Formats: sequence, structure tokens, C-alpha cells
Amino acid sequence: MLITPNTCTKWDRKYLNALNPAARLLLLGRSESADATVESIRAAGGDALYVRCDVRDCAEVECAFEQARNTFGPITHVVHAAGILADESIASKDLDRAAAVFDTKVAGAFNLWNAAHRDPLQTFLMYGSWAGRFGNAHQSDYSAANHVLGRLTSRLDDRPGVRIATIDLPPWEGSGMDPLPVGPLAVGPLAASVLPAGVRARIARGINGLDIHVLEAGYETPDRPAVLLLHGFPELAYSWRKVMPALAAAGYHAIAPDQRGYGRTTGWDADYDGDLNPFRLLNMVRDAFGLVSARVGRIKMVAVASSVATSAGERFFRNRMRRRSSSEMNRCCDAK
Ligand SMILES: NC(=O)c1ccc[n+]([C@@H]2O[C@H](COP(=O)([O-])OP(=O)(O)OC[C@H]3O[C@@H](n4cnc5c(N)ncnc54)[C@H](OP(=O)(O)O)[C@@H]3O)[C@@H](O)[C@H]2O)c1
Repeated sequence: MLITPNTCTKWDRKYLNALNPAARLLLLGRSESADATVESIRAAGGDALYVRCDVRDCAEVECAFEQARNTFGPITHVVHAAGILADESIASKDLDRAAAVFDTKVAGAFNLWNAAHRDPLQTFLMYGSWAGRFGNAHQSDYSAANHVLGRLTSRLDDRPGVRIATIDLPPWEGSGMDPLPVGPLAVGPLAASVLPAGVRARIARGINGLDIHVLEAGYETPDRPAVLLLHGFPELAYSWRKVMPALAAAGYHAIAPDQRGYGRTTGWDADYDGDLNPFRLLNMVRDAFGLVSARVGRIKMVAVASSVATSAGERFFRNRMRRRSSSEMNRCCDAK
């Protein structure tokens, strides 16, 4: 028997056709009833029992499992796909609503896992989300919860023979979990209040098709040698904010852009099915060249943060320093 939320989006024709006629399902949800879903499952040859139950409440879950055992027998598979959204910026998050988002996933997982401790469980499957890996605008609670679900696979390991997995799913259109549309995050340069003294944020416009959000330190004195700070994945120019005043104090003009595809830099195609060619390394090097040529004439060294930035930084230097020895170039690329 399988335990899963009463979610209707999953029980479309495709899933019903694939249903094992012997399948007996316990469907859980907070809704009053799930008659239509139960009927569709029966019509497809399976059987289902809907029990109104909040997965955050361990007593309700225990009780629902007992009803299911009495009706169908022991529980062999659990699919934990319960989830809600309460998208808000962190500053506007309501603690109770954020806790409900988190607990539906995480407390729900523990409650389902514990309630099945006497059953001959074979599979415990949790629905996670990309948001748990990459984060998502206005979804700090949801992202944290999904991240924890991913980590739980290695923590819920006290029952040998049970296959435990979390699938980090991408968003799918027309589902109940479609995030609320949020306005573009790129709302201009970062406020001075979140930056250290001596670091400024501005938008450098029209650079290789981009309006690049850039942090700078040591910009007041003209003709300083520049240090270009390229962030890695998944970071931002902001990652360099604490290094920048020290570089300025050492006599450099420190420049840290939000690279193409990141942060407050705009002008790139954010469409899900958009053209990825502009994100090729050489074009990102072009972004860096454009920024530096627009800002300063001289580059003394480049500091890099991680994989993507390392490659971009290295190619940048290959072009800038063609006539210099490779050992000198490597020394520069190693500088952090
Ligand atoms: N849709 C997407 O784009 C997407 C992307 C990545 C991951 N996911 C994950 O996939 C899962 C299913 O998403 P979906 O789009 O099918 O959403 P959905 O249609 O809204 O289904 C969520 C289900 O969870 C149930 N539920 C919510 N809170 C509950 C609670 N406290 N106790 C018991 N049941 C509860 C809801 O039933 P009631 O309202 O009756 O309680 C509903 O049936 C979620 O875990 C979501 O995080 C979805």
C-alpha cells in the first residue's frame, strides 16, 4: 500500500494508466474530501482510502495509518509529496506561515517515517525541489525545507532494506505549487547600508548587451591598477565585499561585477527555454573585458572564486597578457 497526498495534479490520465490494478492507496490531505481522486483511482482498477489528516500532526498521521492498515493491510511504500508555499521576501515573512511551509515538509517527513516503523516498508520517497539546492526568490522557508528533505535521506537510515530517496524536482507548469509571480529582483544597485565603508554599488550600462551591477572600492583615485574580482557559482559580487576595502587600502581599484545570469545584472535572457549561447565562456570574458575597458585602462591581476570564474578569469588573462610568460600568468590567476 502506498501513502501519498491527495494531490490531484499527480493523478492525471498518465498516472492512472500506469496504476497497478493491485494498488491500494491511502491518500492524505487537509481537504474535506478527495472523492473525485478516489473515484478515478477506482475506475483505473486500484483502490484508495482518503483520510483527512495534517501531516504535521503525528497523532493524526498515526491514526490515518491505523485506518489504512485495517482497510488494506500493512504499508509498503510511502510517498511524501505534501507541500505548501507562502512566498514572501524574508523581511515580510510571517513566522507562523513560514513554519507551516517548513513543517509540512520536514515534520511531515518525520511523522510519516515514524508512523510506518512497524510496517514492512520498502520505499520512502520524498518530493523535494530545485529550490532546496539553488534557492528561489521569496522562498527561503520552502528552500530550507526542501534542502533538509535532501539531507534526510542519509539521516533516516536506521531501517535496513528501505529505499529512501528525495527527488529534487524542477517547477512544472499549471501545478498547485506554481510560485506566485514575483517582480524582477534587479531593482538597481545595492543599498550603501549593506556594504562596508568605501565600497559602492552602481550599474555600468551597455556592456556587451548588459547593464552590469558592479561593486567598487578604491575608485576615488584615478589610474589605479585594477583588480577584477569574479565570483563563482552560486555567488555574487557581494561575496567579495570584505576583501575590497583591503585591496583599496593597498592601492588598487577593486571591481566586482554580478556576472551574466546573476544578481542585479540585467540584459540576459532569463527565459526557461532561452538561448544559452550568450553564457558561453568567451562571451563572459567579453563581459569582463567590456567592464574593465569601460572603467580602467590597466589590469594588474585577477582574483577568482570558483570553477566558472576561474575559467573566465584565466581566459581573460590569456588575452590580456599574451606577451607575458605563462608562469607570470599562472601567478596572477592564483592570486586571491
Ligand atoms: N509543482 C511544482 O512545480 C513542484 C516543483 C518541485 C517540487 N514540487 C513538490 O511536489 C510536491 C507536490 O506538488 P504539487 O504541485 O502537486 O502541489 P499540490 O497540488 O498543491 O499538492 C500538494 C498536496 O499537499 C497536500 N498538503 C499540503 N499541506 C498538507 C498537510 N499539512 N498535510 C497533509 N497534506 C498536505 C495538499 O492537500 P490539502 O490541500 O488537501 O492539504 C495537496 O494535495 C510538493 O512537495 C512540492 O514541493 C512541486
